[in-house]
Amino acid sequence: MVKILQSLVTGQIFAKETWKEAAAVAAPTVNVTLRRAVHGFYQLLLSIIVLGLICALDLVSWSESIYDSRRHIPRHCGRMQHDREGKGILPDIAYGRERRRYAVVTLLTTSSYVKQAEVLGKSLLVYSHLPCSVDMVVLILPRSDVTHQDVELLSQAGWMVETIPRLAAPERINSSTVKHARYIPLVSKLVLFNMTRYDGMLYLDSDTLVLGGIAELFSRHLPEMRRRGLNLGWVRDQGEQFRARSFNAGVMLVAPSKRVFGRLMRFLHEGAFEVSFAEQGLLNAFFGHHSYELDQRFNLLTTVPRENRTLYESIKHDVRIFHSTYFKPTCSFYLVRCFWHGTHDFCREWQRLEALQVKV
Ligand SMILES: *[C@@H]1O[C@H](CO)[C@@H](O)[C@H](O)[C@H]1NC(C)=O
Ligand SMILES: *[C@@H]1O[C@H](CO)[C@@H](O)[C@H](O)[C@H]1NC(C)=O
Ligand SMILES: *[C@@H]1O[C@H](CO)[C@@H](O)[C@H](O)[C@H]1NC(C)=O
Repeated sequence: MVKILQSLVTGQIFAKETWKEAAAVAAPTVNVTLRRAVHGFYQLLLSIIVLGLICALDLVSWSESIYDSRRHIPRHCGRMQHDREGKGILPDIAYGRERRRYAVVTLLTTSSYVKQAEVLGKSLLVYSHLPCSVDMVVLILPRSDVTHQDVELLSQAGWMVETIPRLAAPERINSSTVKHARYIPLVSKLVLFNMTRYDGMLYLDSDTLVLGGIAELFSRHLPEMRRRGLNLGWVRDQGEQFRARSFNAGVMLVAPSKRVFGRLMRFLHEGAFEVSFAEQGLLNAFFGHHSYELDQRFNLLTTVPRENRTLYESIKHDVRIFHSTYFKPTCSFYLVRCFWHGTHDFCREWQRLEALQVKV
């Protein structure tokens, strides 16, 4: 700049050298400024698009929410409940208050899932139509980072908190062999089969959401499982990776048995199974097809709407349990991701329940 001004003064403005020199001095600064401006502009544009998308998803009703029509009936203790078909639940569930025979349980391996468990608890209170004789239990592991405040939050959402022994994973289930390190402590799920004080338990991963009546699992499916001598009921895993060949361990109807638990513990250390999905691989190898198949309405995985449209269309109006696989409800841009996967209605329901105040 100074050079150009100088040349103006001295009348050498058209001298070639002066321009070359000036350009050499100015070019890097101009380039950097220009690049910054363009970069900033693109960032702004991207933010506007993303924010616009979020607002659109939130404010514009793309479809009538599937759940708007469902009545919100918070769990009301001491009264006969009715399942979705309007039939009364078997009396031994409704009135078995002296002996708590059934439970819905989830496992928190770290406190980072407290929020999810809280929303799951509310969804059970609002949609499950389970009688109060069914316990709701959050299992935590010894030396857990779950705090007293967390326990308070969980109990407001209907949960009791119980510590179970941590089952040590065998050496071959380690951070270099599993798909995600967070799967390793899930081996403790096997303890469910040891909890014989219950006749039946419904295990739910904390990233599931109950959206409809599930009492029939205890009143109809569990007795059928027992009749056939089966200890586990679950839903097929869908998606490119699994192609319905194996089952998903995120929702499990368990008939506890000390004998089965003993065999499972031996299998954990000596059996042959796929370790990348930790306990899920183990349970699939152990039970194989000697288990009870529940239909996809009881564990709708995030991938189903995009990867198996026919299946999704046939069950979407009667989904009882939705399972946020792949990404969690607490992750950023949750609704945008849900929209991409076609699970937007379920995710919005998660957010609605999160904001809901419940009294137990
Ligand atoms: C993890 O498991 C693999 C396969 O069994 C084994 O080779 C490896 O040594 C294990 N790593 C650790 C750190 O235990
Ligand atoms: C299994 O349950 C029994 C009580 O029924 C208990 O004594 C034992 O410690 C449990 N085992 C494990 C590994 O949880
Ligand atoms: C979709 O689901 C149906 C019902 O479970 C199954 O028969 C079919 O094979 C699935 N299709 C694909 C592509 O996975």
